[in-house]
Amino acid sequence: MSKKIEPTSGKPRIAIAGATGRVGSTLTSLLASDPVDVVALTRRPDAARLPEGVTAAAVDFDNPKTIADALRGADRLFVSHGSSLQQVANEIALIDSAVAAGVKHITKLSSIGPATRLYPLAWHTEIEAHLSRQPIASSVLRPSAFADILSRRAGGQVSTGSWTGAAGEGRVNFIDTRDVAAAARVALLEDVYPDSQRVYHLTGPRAWTMPQIAEELSNLLGHPVVYKSRTLDQERTALLAAGLSPFVTDLFVGLDQMFRDSALGETTSTFEELTGKPPRTLQQWLSENIEVFRK
Ligand SMILES: NC(=O)c1ccc[n+]([C@@H]2O[C@H](COP(=O)([O-])OP(=O)(O)OC[C@H]3O[C@@H](n4cnc5c(N)ncnc54)[C@H](OP(=O)(O)O)[C@@H]3O)[C@@H](O)[C@H]2O)c1
Repeated sequence: MSKKIEPTSGKPRIAIAGATGRVGSTLTSLLASDPVDVVALTRRPDAARLPEGVTAAAVDFDNPKTIADALRGADRLFVSHGSSLQQVANEIALIDSAVAAGVKHITKLSSIGPATRLYPLAWHTEIEAHLSRQPIASSVLRPSAFADILSRRAGGQVSTGSWTGAAGEGRVNFIDTRDVAAAARVALLEDVYPDSQRVYHLTGPRAWTMPQIAEELSNLLGHPVVYKSRTLDQERTALLAAGLSPFVTDLFVGLDQMFRDSALGETTSTFEELTGKPPRTLQQWLSENIEVFRK
């Protein structure tokens, strides 16, 4: 059996692409207390608020040399890219530069869900396939829906007593992004074999329907809240009429389609096995963020 990967020199050097994002910022804070060097890859190093000891490296996806420079000396790379039309090209550029720079282990943030033409899942399928062909170790994290989606979808409406969507009675398992970051930390710190290829399906403790979430919000807010479900076409028309771009509308309606079909409803024990802790509950996330639903 081959030996596990050893750092190029002393402490492992971990590059984080997406360090300013939802999962990446928590992950970067967690790693700042670990015996590793952390470099944050960002398009806007001046705007990036990073923990002490973490260095920023500027990347311009239109200039591959900047990615190569940012990855110089890195042993491991974490990739979390926000949803955008450039996601596939940018992540593939990161992966290719990492392989060329001698990175030994890439951990990619992907998503749980079916094979589909819907974005962003279809993008993740393409990127994962590219990653699978590289001659280095990889770990793919496939989390269920992030709980903070609810602030974007329902916050701002719930104070009127209802919110709308097209999820019907579909069941969705929500995970707290802090738990995704905690799982990413473990995956990144683990010493793996050079040809290791793994995947982790990360979820919260149970699935919820939107009407069940409405009931929970009613209890927390002390006034009735209901979920009003539309058809996918009605939802698309309403989101476009509300001024959302066609890109964001497609993302939201696609997500609701998967919610409606309970396609993101799976519950796994992977988070607890990986971190030794139970995942945070949706009730906890709702209580901590209840102010978002009062506005
Ligand atoms: N939202 C969910 O429910 C969910 C569930 C499962 C999986 N995921 C996956 O998790 C990943 C991260 O999603 P997120 O919404 O949490 O991302 P995010 O935190 O909003 O973004 C992560 C980072 O991507 C970087 N980025 C680089 N180029 C970008 C571009 N052209 N457009 C947008 N961001 C860009 C940004 O860093 P700089 O600005 O510093 O360059 C940003 O901080 C996605 O791939 C998503 O599919 C999401």
